[in-house]
Amino acid sequence: MALVPMKEILTAARKEERGVGMFNVVGLEYAEAITEAAEEMNFPVILGLPDPFLANHKEGVIAEMMTGLARRASVPVAVHLDHGGSFERVMEALRQGFSSVMFDGSALPFEENIRQTAEIVRIAHAMGASVEGELGYLGFTEGAPQNVDHFTKPQEAAEYVERTGVDALAVAVGNMHGHYRGTPKLDLVRLSEIRDAVECPLVLHGGSGLSEQDFQNAVHAGINKINIFTHLNDITAECVKKGLEEMKPWYVISEEMKAAVREQVKDLIRIFGCL
Ligand code: CO
Ligand code: CO
Repeated sequence: MALVPMKEILTAARKEERGVGMFNVVGLEYAEAITEAAEEMNFPVILGLPDPFLANHKEGVIAEMMTGLARRASVPVAVHLDHGGSFERVMEALRQGFSSVMFDGSALPFEENIRQTAEIVRIAHAMGASVEGELGYLGFTEGAPQNVDHFTKPQEAAEYVERTGVDALAVAVGNMHGHYRGTPKLDLVRLSEIRDAVECPLVLHGGSGLSEQDFQNAVHAGINKINIFTHLNDITAECVKKGLEEMKPWYVISEEMKAAVREQVKDLIRIFGCL
């Protein structure tokens, strides 16, 4: 097993109607915990890196760490740039060896999103990497009200996938980044309409805060990749707080953090994968 393009993992997941987790990485503890969880579950996983974090390290270092773990893993692992914000950032990730990139052109006008995404797909595919695009607008504002006008439309999704050649499509169906305000409600009818309209696997961003039932409903309505970040940060923050209160040294807190992330990721892999 090893570092693989995301398409390889998601094509199998779509065939089997399973979901695969993409967990965003902050540093080594997260990356090891996520990879070890996947190995223990004997199930593929996607290591994500949020676009801004690419600039937090000396060029190539974080990519080497993530791809190094992927290459040594006993299960298929894709290393993915989450919410690539520009052509340049996506190219930087590809140069550094990411096996998958997301280009988030969802805030652009429809035609411009297609034009920019298609250009990235052509280059990424030539390099053997996968591309995730986004249509419909989730936004990043925690607690902002949901606007149905911004949800992904099945017909537009079909046209976008056809004209860009993306390997996966992120959709807006009532999901939201960060913490949800109130109880989240996914538009499952719309989701299955999108699934029937497009060829490629669908991605659910904003997985933190959804229930086990929400996840399984989403997978049965066509989701094959689920993104988690906020929830892991809540868990590690709690570990740090408790550790500091008990005056534990950092290396102990760090090990506890890693163990807590690993256990949570194992549970999510089981739920997403319907294992
Ligand atoms: Co996202
Ligand atoms: Co939370």
